[in-house]
Amino acid sequence: MSAHAQRRAALDGWLAALAPIWMPSPFCEARPAWCHTHPELTEALLDLDDPTLVALSADDDVARAFLLPYLPALAEVPALIALPARELAPAPVSHAAWEFIPGRKAAQIDAFANAVGAPQAPLVEWCAGKGHLGRRFLMSWGGEARALERNAVLCREGEALSARAGLQQRFTVADVLAPEAAASLAGAHAIALHACGDLHRRLIDLAGPAGARALDVAPCCYPLGADDLYRPRGGASALKLDRNALRLAVTETVTASPRLAAESERLSAWKFAFIALREAHAPGAPYRTFKPTPAVWAGRGFAFFLQSLAAREQLPLDAELDFAVAEAAGWARHRAARRLQLPRQACRRAIEIWLLHDLALALENAGFEAELHRFCPRTLTPRNVIVSARR
Ligand SMILES: C[S@@+](CC[C@H](N)C(=O)[O-])C[C@H]1O[C@@H](n2cnc3c(N)ncnc32)[C@H](O)[C@@H]1O
Repeated sequence: MSAHAQRRAALDGWLAALAPIWMPSPFCEARPAWCHTHPELTEALLDLDDPTLVALSADDDVARAFLLPYLPALAEVPALIALPARELAPAPVSHAAWEFIPGRKAAQIDAFANAVGAPQAPLVEWCAGKGHLGRRFLMSWGGEARALERNAVLCREGEALSARAGLQQRFTVADVLAPEAAASLAGAHAIALHACGDLHRRLIDLAGPAGARALDVAPCCYPLGADDLYRPRGGASALKLDRNALRLAVTETVTASPRLAAESERLSAWKFAFIALREAHAPGAPYRTFKPTPAVWAGRGFAFFLQSLAAREQLPLDAELDFAVAEAAGWARHRAARRLQLPRQACRRAIEIWLLHDLALALENAGFEAELHRFCPRTLTPRNVIVSARR
């Protein structure tokens, strides 16, 4: 059994045992069933003050230390999610060349290039956007690169940038999900930074049969384009991951600005106010998701927001409704849900690492040597793992 198969099997068992903790979302169920089996944990979470909650939400290690006395199985997490970090000798590149990329993106691209090193074959950049990643490789190591991108405007802008830099980078307006995309991978070294969901899965599915020589991909947005139930690629597994589980794997985000964070909290509380009224209207009815709310609603105050959402979702509002009471109920639900979410969050990296080992296993089965490594700190991007494969 390969190292990826062993790790995936170990994660299979651990995730199955902890499923009652990570599967139900406190954003959909006010009190998931584990609240009844773990009353002390529930009480400790609901008692958390705001600064402690912020500290626990911001750091998985700190959260795990807090949760460990109630959930001893979390002690296994560090070993289950460990991956090596990799940085080869940094390749020099002139600063001026990078001025057109926002700072965080440039740092991610630098880290990706440093971790991958010199290309093994002509590059094919998958879902390239303006092709910044491919250009970064060409600036360091020369050679040629092809960029596949669906958006023709991004292709044109990328072409202008590479012409200015005098690099051998060609753009093709292409849908990588179309059958003809496979041909572009023959003999190539495929690279992809943050190809979402089915875009990175497609690359990994094609790499073997299409005859790619090497592949380095940093996956992201696992739920995008996924089937209702994730189809394991590295061989059968007892673990069933639905779209909610894939969503959980990517809930960690880089800290938003304080203003955006406050707006997002308020929006959540207001949605909970609606959810609480809907539950009161139809007690015991299963949770139903609803479409995103237009930004203008939130800008016009709570009463307008609630009335608009209720009208769209066909929830009759009591003419006597006390909006202040309804909003306070929303905030109470929001505060509880954020606290009860912590045990789930302590499991999310394990789901992501399971998915990554599954992709690595698929590549091994297709005849590659596959590796996983971290290419940057999680503060730069939480999607910080490269799936790397060589013939
Ligand atoms: C998240 S962006 C990543 C872009 C770039 N790799 C980066 O890190 O900045 C995803 C890119 O994939 C492109 N894309 C989405 N679906 C695609 C498809 N089916 N075929 C080709 N490109 C696609 C989008 O237009 C977008 O430029």
